[in-house]
Amino acid sequence: MRAPSVWLGALVPSRPGESPVRELLSPRRAPGRAQAVCIPAIHLHMTAATMQVSQKDFEKAQEQLKLLKKDPGNETKLKLYALFKQATEGPCNSPKPGMLDFVKKAKWDAWNSLGNLSQDDAREKYTELVSGLVSAESAGQHKDASPEENRLGGYETIIVTTKNNITKIMFNRPEKKNAINHKMYREIIKALEEAGKDDSAIAVITGNGDYYSSGNDLSNFTGVKPAEMKKMAEDGAVLLKEFVSHFIDFPKPLVAVVNGPAVGICVTLLGLCDIVYASDRATFHCPFSQLGQSPEGCSSYLFPKIMGLAKANEVLLFNKKLTAADACVQGLVTEVFPDRTFQKEVWARLEAYASLPKNSLAVSKQLIRSIEKEKLHAVSSKECEVLKERWLSDECINAIVTFFQKKSKL
Ligand code: COA
Repeated sequence: MRAPSVWLGALVPSRPGESPVRELLSPRRAPGRAQAVCIPAIHLHMTAATMQVSQKDFEKAQEQLKLLKKDPGNETKLKLYALFKQATEGPCNSPKPGMLDFVKKAKWDAWNSLGNLSQDDAREKYTELVSGLVSAESAGQHKDASPEENRLGGYETIIVTTKNNITKIMFNRPEKKNAINHKMYREIIKALEEAGKDDSAIAVITGNGDYYSSGNDLSNFTGVKPAEMKKMAEDGAVLLKEFVSHFIDFPKPLVAVVNGPAVGICVTLLGLCDIVYASDRATFHCPFSQLGQSPEGCSSYLFPKIMGLAKANEVLLFNKKLTAADACVQGLVTEVFPDRTFQKEVWARLEAYASLPKNSLAVSKQLIRSIEKEKLHAVSSKECEVLKERWLSDECINAIVTFFQKKSKL
């Protein structure tokens, strides 16, 4: 059950340091109730001694609950409330509150949902629940003392970590300026799939080293025999379409932390991110026509929408490289930070955002995206079709040969 927002206010402790659950759940709120236990007939076979232990545990649990430092969340507090009422008064016996009395209605619903659960069972469940909260808190305190990044295994070209409700996907080929080769495309797809399902509230994409990313790895096109060119282009288009689809469909807020220069597809994908923070060292360059290629990542649709047609044309047709400040003015970047304080400021901001209710963030993101989702998939399909032809064109092949020839002459 999702508690209405007014419930939050009603449960926030009024004095700093006071246990957040104390106010509503302390037996002091229901004087004498904890003692007024009536034992249902079904449990008459229990000895007086076992009952006493159970009652003692129940009272101990109430004391432990008051000592919890962290708010266990509204759903848990409702469960505790309901179990306490059931344990001390039996099945829900109060009249149903009106629909608009949200707090009372949420509490009544929680209690009523326990139906005919016996008072013994309610006491036991209550005690178990508190014991779980106490252990989780002491484990959490241990963890909080040295918050550690949890690094997910199975990746070679990216580093995927989770910490503070954030999943970070970091391009990790710094020696190649984080150029995206085929393996990296597949690993990013896998990481996005995992991040979409994990417990984090937001996901972040960033780069390791001085570059955010130099875009498509041009060696994806090299070493292909003439007879295999067509297949290379077809497979490339399928992979690109799948890759971009994962950005279109990503179910929670996706943030780009652009730590340095960005080229090609890593620029175009920014239009599909929900927020883009950039270091003032970052630049944004789409050398598509220079390479005999064409835009992808839905930029043929999103860039004109974001920047206006004339500005987008300079970027997408004429290879205009934008500074971070330009990109921010054009609306592609949300905010620019001085490189010196970039990481510190951005991560502090993101940690605060990631502590917001994650389900609310996810449904809101999906709502916003849903309006254009079909359109974006159609745009991406079209872009991939055009690129499939471009990759086989003389213009493209010559540009790639020139790139590697220049390198070999250095
Ligand atoms: N594809 C393949 N290799 C790339 C690459 C890319 N997109 N970006 C960088 N690299 C490689 C370089 O070839 C070089 O490899 P080497 O050390 O084996 O020679 C290494 O990464 C370092 O790059 P280098 O060019 O030496 O660094 P730089 O600072 O002089 O220039 C770039 C960086 C990004 C400006 C330059 O590498 C470049 O123009 N890359 C191509 C970008 C591009 O066109 N991307 C596709 C867009 S559609």
